[in-house]
Amino acid sequence: MKLLDRFEEFLLKSLPSVDSFHPYFQNATNQMIVAGGKRFRPMLLLSVVNSKEPLLVDSALHIAYAVELLHTYSLIHDDLPTMDNAPLRRGHETIHTTYDEVSAILVGDGLNSESFRVIADAPLSSDVKIECVRLLASDGGLGGMVLGQAIDIYFENHPLDIQKLKFLHIHKTAKLIASSLKMGAIIANYDTDIQDTLYDFGIDLGLLFQMQDDIIDVVADESEAGKTTGNDEGKNSFTNLLGLQEAIRETDILAKKLQDRLADFDKKLQDSLTPLQQKYLF
Ligand code: IPE
Ligand code: IPE
Ligand code: MG
Ligand code: MG
Ligand code: MG
Repeated sequence: MKLLDRFEEFLLKSLPSVDSFHPYFQNATNQMIVAGGKRFRPMLLLSVVNSKEPLLVDSALHIAYAVELLHTYSLIHDDLPTMDNAPLRRGHETIHTTYDEVSAILVGDGLNSESFRVIADAPLSSDVKIECVRLLASDGGLGGMVLGQAIDIYFENHPLDIQKLKFLHIHKTAKLIASSLKMGAIIANYDTDIQDTLYDFGIDLGLLFQMQDDIIDVVADESEAGKTTGNDEGKNSFTNLLGLQEAIRETDILAKKLQDRLADFDKKLQDSLTPLQQKYLF
């Protein structure tokens, strides 16, 4: 079975159970997890593991799922009226649209903590799990995504210079992508220099991913994107700061650079990551 299919199967059988007499909290909790999404971060993690230790993929599925839970929480909160105010995500209504804001806030909180419970219960050594917790907590939290989101919102309608723009996007998006690669390397027991190389590569990959995301907001309609688009007015997006044409040009340059860097990786890693590069990055 393909890695992505294995991941989707695992996700469906691992969905959070919040059985109670609440009329819809269980459905609200699962809504965005099952709605889909590209599963880019889990696929990065699993592909790194598969390149060296295919027999560890089953255990790594737990960590990949944890990363996807944390990412999904970040999207649920990102869409809230007080943040980006978006009614559509992953081809479905956002949780605050179907239900109410308080459910979206609490589901986000729940998926955040659930991600760490899933890691704690994963069939991996305690050392590996602690490293994964540290990375996910930092790059998905105050050391990364959360700080990035705070800056993203605070500086709406206040254009940043290019250095600060990069800081914003490295924190908001790139660090979680970089740590997904690194968690894969830790699980597969790659040498620390390869772990670090993958992390650095992931930062630029994450920047590229966010640049593309900013372009999608401008050029794609909602049915193509599956989410609210044309929504970045006032944002420090690459397209607003550079202009669409220049953002596309810079995206092409960075994509080419990353291809060259990938060509220096060991053959197994290259073979594992190249299909993802082709699938997710234009
Ligand atoms: C969207 O992430 C938010 C960004 C960090 C750019 P994705 O583009 O990975 O969203 P899904 O998971 O496919 O829905
Ligand atoms: C959000 O960036 C990044 C997150 C940490 C969730 P965006 O606000 O650009 O993501 P989309 O475009 O709504 O998916
Ligand atoms: Mg946002
Ligand atoms: Mg948004
Ligand atoms: Mg966006």
